[in-house]
Amino acid sequence: MKSKFLYFIAVIPFLFLACNSSKKNKADSASLAESKKELSEGFHLMKNNCFSCHSPNAGIQNKVAPSMASIKKHYAEEGISYKEFAYNISAFLNNPSEQNSKMPEAIKAYNLMPKMSFTDEQISKISNYLYHSDIENPDWFTKQYPKEMNNHIKSNALSPLEQGQQIAMNTKGVLGKNLLGAIKQKGTLGALSFCSIKAIPITDSMSIALNATVKRVSDKNRNSNNAANSDELKVIATMQRAIANGSKVKPQLISSDNKHVGYYPIVTNQMCMQCHGTINSDIKPEVLSKIKSLYPNDKAIAYKENELRGIWVIEMDKE
Ligand code: HEC
Ligand code: HEC
Repeated sequence: MKSKFLYFIAVIPFLFLACNSSKKNKADSASLAESKKELSEGFHLMKNNCFSCHSPNAGIQNKVAPSMASIKKHYAEEGISYKEFAYNISAFLNNPSEQNSKMPEAIKAYNLMPKMSFTDEQISKISNYLYHSDIENPDWFTKQYPKEMNNHIKSNALSPLEQGQQIAMNTKGVLGKNLLGAIKQKGTLGALSFCSIKAIPITDSMSIALNATVKRVSDKNRNSNNAANSDELKVIATMQRAIANGSKVKPQLISSDNKHVGYYPIVTNQMCMQCHGTINSDIKPEVLSKIKSLYPNDKAIAYKENELRGIWVIEMDKE
């Protein structure tokens, strides 16, 4: 009886140990899977939102923006912690401006990057991927990029709100690239026809599968085809209230029997002012007169930075 009791006592610690260690293993593998998923999501976001302007191929000097590798080299200075790195990336993405720039020479060479609207979570996934990937390595694009593509295709499905956001951001990437390129080559006047999405073909497989349509509308539209309807005006009003309250503007999804419609904010930054800002101080007289002749009913002026210029409206079939 006594010996059995002793045996029991002796076994207890092992039971605990065994139990603890299996718990710990589980936790480790969960956090590993979690971080793999996070990385894949970070890659996904960058592929859809950044690589159209910032070539993922370090060897290619893109015409409209520095390569992602050279950006990483500027941001991941010797000895910088991940926390600082992520802080700097997030500051610039939330508000692309000269104050937040670490590459002022890039602004001179390419013009300031247009502002995009991301949630804090998306920005932290982007920083996480950029920091932990090997993107600055000259071999990354030929060796790692195809693997990342493969992983991310296998990674979990997106919600309709995220699908719509990707379609909007893909279009926005091409639009921004064309617009920045045109301003650089032809100046503001020559770039006037490049802020239109009419000429941007929708070719990615997700948009085709979802039979997606892409619109940009505004409460103060320039082109009369881009006037917001009554549903869209309600969404715009909600987003304007969020901006006025200083909170982050959230995208919205409205679903009917067979369709999802996603609404995503379009916010101004300094780059937009030359065509949508204050007459004379931002918009030069020759630009204004060309705008007036092309769009006699133009309402899209007198904006300041960080205001809601309009919204993307993405209509998708339900899967
Ligand atoms: C429409 C084209 C375009 C897209 C899309 C784009 N960028 Fe940029 N980005 C630029 C240009 C042009 C510059 C160089 C001028 C500047 O620094 O603002 C730049 C510069 C940067 C810089 C360096 C800023 C500095 O001056 O210190 C960072 C960081 C950056 N981009 C991150 C991103 C990330 C992350 C994404 C995707 C979420 C992205 N960019 C998408 C055009 C773009
Ligand atoms: C070179 C001048 C120019 C610049 C710079 C410019 N735009 Fe435009 N924008 C236009 C013109 C012209 C139109 C009308 C396009 C059309 O006919 O569809 C337009 C239309 C738009 C529309 C569609 C709604 C409407 O009013 O017809 C949005 C949204 C928009 N611009 C947002 C922006 C944002 C955001 C920026 C900065 C990132 C920007 N634009 C920079 C000239 C410009």
